[in-house]
Amino acid sequence: MPENTLSVTDNRTGKTYQLPIEHGAIRALDLRQIKLDADDFGLMSYDPAFTNTACTRSTITYVDGEKGILRYRGYPIEQLAESSTFLEVAYLILHGELPDSAQLRAWTDDIIHHTFLHENIKTLMEAFRYDAHPMGMFISTVAALSTFYPEAPDIFNLENRMYQIKRLIAKVPTIAAFSYRHSRGLPYVYPDNDLSFTGNFLSMMFKMSEARYKVPPALEHALDVLFILHADHEQNCSTNTMRSIGSSQPDPYSALAGAAAALYGPLHGGANEAVLRMLNQIGTVGDVADYIRRVKAGETRLMGFGHRVYKNYDPRARIIKQVAEEVFAVTGRNPLLDIALELERIALEDDYFVSRKLYPNVDFYSGIIYQAMGIPTTMFPVLFAIARTVGWLAQWQELLQDPEQRIARPRQLYLGKGHRDYLPLAQR
Ligand code: CMC
Repeated sequence: MPENTLSVTDNRTGKTYQLPIEHGAIRALDLRQIKLDADDFGLMSYDPAFTNTACTRSTITYVDGEKGILRYRGYPIEQLAESSTFLEVAYLILHGELPDSAQLRAWTDDIIHHTFLHENIKTLMEAFRYDAHPMGMFISTVAALSTFYPEAPDIFNLENRMYQIKRLIAKVPTIAAFSYRHSRGLPYVYPDNDLSFTGNFLSMMFKMSEARYKVPPALEHALDVLFILHADHEQNCSTNTMRSIGSSQPDPYSALAGAAAALYGPLHGGANEAVLRMLNQIGTVGDVADYIRRVKAGETRLMGFGHRVYKNYDPRARIIKQVAEEVFAVTGRNPLLDIALELERIALEDDYFVSRKLYPNVDFYSGIIYQAMGIPTTMFPVLFAIARTVGWLAQWQELLQDPEQRIARPRQLYLGKGHRDYLPLAQR
């Protein structure tokens, strides 16, 4: 019997098959040879929500959910958060290697000089209702960008593709900040190319009448770390959407708008907004135990807890907890932190959460920091989207370079009615 194979016996026919195992997986298509007879379609695997299906080989991000490990291109997230910057990490994720100083200078320069939006985009954003959710504005505006760059669909031209990638990374903070200013009825602030990527974002968010916004260094650093932590997370819901849309080969703006829409939901990037709503709803530390009782009774969920992959403490949550202290040293302590800490303390001792391996995830503490920085809850998923744009684009690029990838098209198990004839209305 050859090693690295799986023997499968079909008890319906008594036949045995040898399926090759590569990288710890069998190919689902190898199951198709397993048939009852020549007319049979062949065996499929059934995996709603892709809980045990690898849809790609990837070299970008490594997650070990059992051990709580996250690495970008091999580098541990803890080291990147400690020593790197968001733009350097963006280069690493997209190019596979850390830049040397000339490469980093050129990359930073390129990004910073693409931060402006076409004035018509501004007009388009102005057309939204005064109280439009910034995430809705973000998704629509990113999609609208595709109409400004008619060359963008030429995705197999490497130079052109990299141009669109830089444009997107550079412009998403501007779109994000404009959507915030719009929802506040404030004038839009144009990018300041003398500031860092993160400093410029803070300036576009918070600059008022002063000639130059003074970026608070602690907040600039904290936000940069948060962007690093959110930059990629392998095949999550929104990345899968980016790849799925990307597989039909549209321009990256259209694909990225779809990915951002997938991020918006409360089970994914909208969770940080939901955490804040939950903490406000709980109200006081004394009410935490009752909330936990309701979660265990199945009446509600503990937002910011649990993860499809992490069955251990999310390493990003641990780093965010440290960042929170740095931010609170400047802004003052967010009182919601005490409720969050008490929730975490009770949950980590309670058998309901322990037995289900439910730990705080990246979104449990990030919202508390954003709120302390003066960022409203509706902006939380938008901030997530700014950082994740890098991951979406790297995964999209990997997809386009992968000769095994074709248009994404899952199968189904049809359990509906068999053939039946149409009845005219009068006979029903
Ligand atoms: N609160 C209470 N119970 C939970 C929670 C939670 N947050 N998460 C999972 N469970 C329970 C769930 O009820 C189920 O219990 P049982 O086996 O008795 O039915 C069990 O744990 C397994 O849960 P699941 O829903 O099958 O797990 P999943 O892998 O499908 O869902 C998740 C993962 C993240 C959607 C889920 O844990 C959740 O809804 N968490 C809250 C939302 C959240 O914080 N999302 C952010 C994810 S991290 C940032 C990102 O990447 O977007």
